[in-house]
Amino acid sequence: MSTHSAVSGYSRLHSPRLNKGSAFTQAERQAYGLEGLLPPGVSSLELQVARIHGEFGRLENDLQKYLLLSDLQARNETLFYAVLMSDPATFMPIVYTPTVGEACQKFDRIFRAARGVYIPITARGRIGDLLGNWPQQDVRFIVVTDGERILGLGDLGVGGMGIPIGKLALYTACAGVPPQYCLPVTLDVGTNNQALLDDPLYLGLRQNRVRGDEYLSFIDEFVDAVQKRFPACCIQWEDFANINAVPILARYRDKVCTFNDDIQGTAAMSLAGVLGALRISGGKLTDQRFLFLGAGSAATGIAELISQAMAGEGLDIEEARRRNALFDVNGLLVSSRNDLADFQRPFAQDQAPVGSFVEAIRTLKPTGIIGVSTVPKLFSQAVIEAMAAVNERPIIFPLSNPTSRSECTAEEAYRWSDGRAIFASGSPFPPVEIDGRSFVPGQGNNVYIFPAMGMAVFATEAKRVTDSMFIAAARAVAEQVSDQSLAKGLIYPPQSRIFEASLHVAAKVADHIFDLGLAGVPRPDDVGALIASRVFRPVYE
Ligand code: NAI
Repeated sequence: MSTHSAVSGYSRLHSPRLNKGSAFTQAERQAYGLEGLLPPGVSSLELQVARIHGEFGRLENDLQKYLLLSDLQARNETLFYAVLMSDPATFMPIVYTPTVGEACQKFDRIFRAARGVYIPITARGRIGDLLGNWPQQDVRFIVVTDGERILGLGDLGVGGMGIPIGKLALYTACAGVPPQYCLPVTLDVGTNNQALLDDPLYLGLRQNRVRGDEYLSFIDEFVDAVQKRFPACCIQWEDFANINAVPILARYRDKVCTFNDDIQGTAAMSLAGVLGALRISGGKLTDQRFLFLGAGSAATGIAELISQAMAGEGLDIEEARRRNALFDVNGLLVSSRNDLADFQRPFAQDQAPVGSFVEAIRTLKPTGIIGVSTVPKLFSQAVIEAMAAVNERPIIFPLSNPTSRSECTAEEAYRWSDGRAIFASGSPFPPVEIDGRSFVPGQGNNVYIFPAMGMAVFATEAKRVTDSMFIAAARAVAEQVSDQSLAKGLIYPPQSRIFEASLHVAAKVADHIFDLGLAGVPRPDDVGALIASRVFRPVYE
């Protein structure tokens, strides 16, 4: 008797991985003892997908749509992914940003089926046991948060679990990482959100956040326990506060297979946008000069990856970093300033201080400006006009999220540059019509990068995740933008084609992993075929 037929019909109906719901055939219903447990009609998977589309379409509220899909995921995993993959552009904003943010904020009010592993700091010394309670023996991918900086919403404590759950759903829906190998984890070290601590419904530890050595040794134990229990597992850190995100990545990146999407995925997404923009302007990467508005973790992460990509094309790395200038609340980052942090110094310019952003554009003549300041409207008419005066095709990327924080709108960038701007933003903007010409603004979204990175790491059983792998991913994203899209100003592939795009990116990254000698499996003749053979497809067995 196979293990499958050993499962009773009733258990099968309540096991999301085995359940087919109304799609169990008559023969299966007889064989598994399901007769009488389902209404007699048999649906195809296609009909089940259409049924969910119908129900989804009738709901008016995005959180209700989120719950519909989340309940479906707990009931029938194949159908859940078939639905997501049937129309990613529609379902991604529900399963992930922006709707997932509201789901995290209301976590304690909408909590139903548990998913993933919760590790409170009170379980120190026993983390391995808690991970052992997860039913899968072979976990290859963990997305983990400590809930401190959930999207732009701040400290949501244990409610942050919505993020690892949603993000892993995208690993599967956008790049085919098999869901049985994926595990969402929340590390609960407390919360400093007083409203949560005062709320009787709050489900996390009722204490303030643990910091310092105690926090780090908890993280150490977690990483050790994962290595022991799931030796082939990649750990993706998600939505940690900057004060922890940067040191955690630095501590483990050369020791285990790990990455931080907020830092590395964001940088790769921006580099992909730059490379896409160069396909429009025809310029060379090493001839570019960027001026960032903002000098925080987003700015320095992007500036460093662009510098490394420039170095990969032959520029000296120090020279490459000087081509990425930063401007913050105190003006241009110049070497004479004594308020610079270590991670900002490499980008400091050897020149006199400059206090105005427009003046910095006139002095440095950047080919692109990248806004990561969190402050809206700073790409003013004077700024865009200054960029248009020194460039035929100025690159204008206001990346601050959400839309209300964007440094300028798409329409402003196109209008003030007489339609010459090459534009991408962090939050989506609708197409723009100016003097009979239409422009389609691109949205820089990490979803072009992280699912593909996950698939490449999974298929090759990579030992490490390096910055050069993110550069390979960015190049692979940019090369797939069609000439038709470029003609409209769109520098990213359309989200409706995310699955095909991700498999292409995954194959390119996998190739690079083999080149680096970091793969845990032998190099096949056809890396694309290796990826295809490992891809999860939502069909019933
Ligand atoms: P951060 O708080 O670390 O850095 C903000 C920087 O902006 C600081 O250097 C600050 O000095 C500077 N700044 C603030 N006001 C300014 C002003 N008036 N003039 C000049 N500089 C000013 O923030 P972080 O984490 O670097 O994020 C920045 C922004 O980037 C956020 O809005 C975030 O939403 C966005 N971002 C977008 C992503 C995307 O996928 N599109 C990904 C990551 C971040």
